[in-house]
Amino acid sequence: MTVKLNSEIIDQAIQKAFEATKRAFVPYSHFPVGACIITKDGHLIPGANIENSSYGLSNCAERTAMFSAVMQGYLREDIEALVVAAPTQTICPPCGACRQVMLDLLTPDTPVICTNGKESKTFTVAQLMPFAFTEDNLQN
Ligand code: THU
Repeated sequence: MTVKLNSEIIDQAIQKAFEATKRAFVPYSHFPVGACIITKDGHLIPGANIENSSYGLSNCAERTAMFSAVMQGYLREDIEALVVAAPTQTICPPCGACRQVMLDLLTPDTPVICTNGKESKTFTVAQLMPFAFTEDNLQN
């Protein structure tokens, strides 16, 4: 089965991403973020940010969701979209580290849908990360 992106599955993924914020481990920033991958076979894979007392080891919601997808056997060609949700005034953009990870674990044309529950902005991975360092550069 292949799921095409439509407003119904996007709304479900947004809901799942906001639910995931409840499991965010954010004792330092108190800034919960949720994410949800929509797979082409119709599964929703959530993630939330997980912080650490050694702050640099903290993991963003997007990476938690992407790593979870890998562990469930989904590679870039199996993924339809990634939703990022934060209950903020302005929409929360993915950080640079997550954009770099997206290059390996999503395709360049995968939509990344960022929302605060009131409005959404969608960018492809390629739009989020122009002139990027990728696996191709390792071949040079
Ligand atoms: N964070 C995310 O999880 N995703 C984003 O898109 C931006 C930032 C997290 C990292 C850290 O746990 C907290 O938000 C504050 O930076």
